[in-house]
Amino acid sequence: MAEKYSRATLTRNFLKTITRIKNPDEMLADAGEGGLEKTLGVWDLIILGVGAIIGSGIFAVVGIAAAGGDSSIGAGPALMVSMVIAAVACIFSALCYSEFATMIPVAGGAYTYTFATLGEFAAWMVGWVLMLEYAIGFIAVACAWSNHLVQFLNGFEKFLPAWLSNPPVWLVNDPFTAAKIVSTNPDVFVPRLFGVPICINLPAILIVLLITAILVKGTKDSAKMAGLMVFIKLAVIALFVVAGAFYVRPENWTPFAPNGAEGIFAGAFLIFFAYIGFDALATAAEECKNPQKDLPIGIIGSLLVTTVVYVLVALVLTGMQDTSGAVPSGFLKAPMAYCMMTIAHQNWAAGLISIGSLAGLTSVLLVLEMAATRILFAMSRDHFISKRFQKIHPKFKTPALLTWTVGLLAVVGILTLNLDVAAELCNYGTFTSFIIVCVAVLILRKTDPDRPRPFKVPFSPVVPALGIITCGGLMVYKSMQPSGSAILFPVWLGVGAMIYLLYGFVKNRLNENKIHNEKVHSKKQELLK
Ligand code: ALA
Repeated sequence: MAEKYSRATLTRNFLKTITRIKNPDEMLADAGEGGLEKTLGVWDLIILGVGAIIGSGIFAVVGIAAAGGDSSIGAGPALMVSMVIAAVACIFSALCYSEFATMIPVAGGAYTYTFATLGEFAAWMVGWVLMLEYAIGFIAVACAWSNHLVQFLNGFEKFLPAWLSNPPVWLVNDPFTAAKIVSTNPDVFVPRLFGVPICINLPAILIVLLITAILVKGTKDSAKMAGLMVFIKLAVIALFVVAGAFYVRPENWTPFAPNGAEGIFAGAFLIFFAYIGFDALATAAEECKNPQKDLPIGIIGSLLVTTVVYVLVALVLTGMQDTSGAVPSGFLKAPMAYCMMTIAHQNWAAGLISIGSLAGLTSVLLVLEMAATRILFAMSRDHFISKRFQKIHPKFKTPALLTWTVGLLAVVGILTLNLDVAAELCNYGTFTSFIIVCVAVLILRKTDPDRPRPFKVPFSPVVPALGIITCGGLMVYKSMQPSGSAILFPVWLGVGAMIYLLYGFVKNRLNENKIHNEKVHSKKQELLK
């Protein structure tokens, strides 16, 4: 009986511990001591937001979303409707992010908000899942950057030496992609060490190291660099829209939705990837000069700017290329550059678009890595990972050790991961974090209704509920299609739970004991005096 009783008590205590929440006031106090430097204004935020969002989604995925690919049907000219649907799904979550980011403007984003509402275990799991969105997303975009660079170099075949315009397969691909290439073309050379093929995606590794070095140098510098990239990518997209408009044939817009509603939703699901990144702004809340006012403008403003840009691109793209039937493979890989080269016959414009896409992907990389480090920074502050990672570089005022750790882990990921799987896992992480943030807004409205909310989600609980339904619906839709990521996602969750139980939980309890002992010791000292 006694044993049964103690087991029940232990279970109750365990559950109480893992659902222990961290008070938002405690979070704000923690952030005040030795926090990050506040350098970001509203324009820095909009630039970081647009910088994080516009990338491989609009420069590459858009072709498959319009015309269909191996595993999905296309939306056709109704792609612009798909884009609006995906944007609406994001806006619901963006509003919830804004409420939290202005209420608890500290580093960590969804991880922090979960700690304030659902407790320690859920917070750890959200932090772990966010690594899929930011760290694995970082790897996926680095691989896409490498693909775009190779495509860009291919265009200079006449001017560059062959080894540069057509680099060896084993130097620009991961082992899985290289194996696929070799299976269709056995003449392709891949070196082997003890029979194991050696493939190193060198451009992806170099860009990751460069981005890491820039981030270590400073957040303000990174925002400036992202600003330049954002300018370049918006300029080339504007060039495409304006120059492409002259080659639009209105008959290409009919039939408007060749695959009906199914095509539109399949397109919306795919193009959702193109909007990922606005939430990264919330992770930089601690570095904002005026988070209460600037963050909602930054988050929602960057989402609106992006939606307008995307719809314009969709309009011109589907007006230039007939997307109701089969399309050339060049359109699927880099649709804007393809249309400029093959339909408008403006090679100079196609070249500029390739440069713009590289700039676009570079700024996405900057923000994704920055977001990953800021979440880990918050997790280290909560004793889930070593305190050493909280060390701020004395000169650059950035978490240098943490940033290099993320950069080097990304290099390991590039050596072992496949781009498609990494991108899909990134989507899973994003859906989960969006849903959790919507749930967390509803919970905190109940548990802490009087806390000042400089920005409030309008029409709550309808808007957060719609966010949960739209993101949840897209996630369920994806899980029903057989894919490697649909298996890897639950595995990732399982590994995360194990790490918490064997490491995070224990580390947190040791820390609690330490704090308790310190308190007892200082009380004793006081009494002795
Ligand atoms: N939204 C980002 C992109 O399209 C992830 O690359």
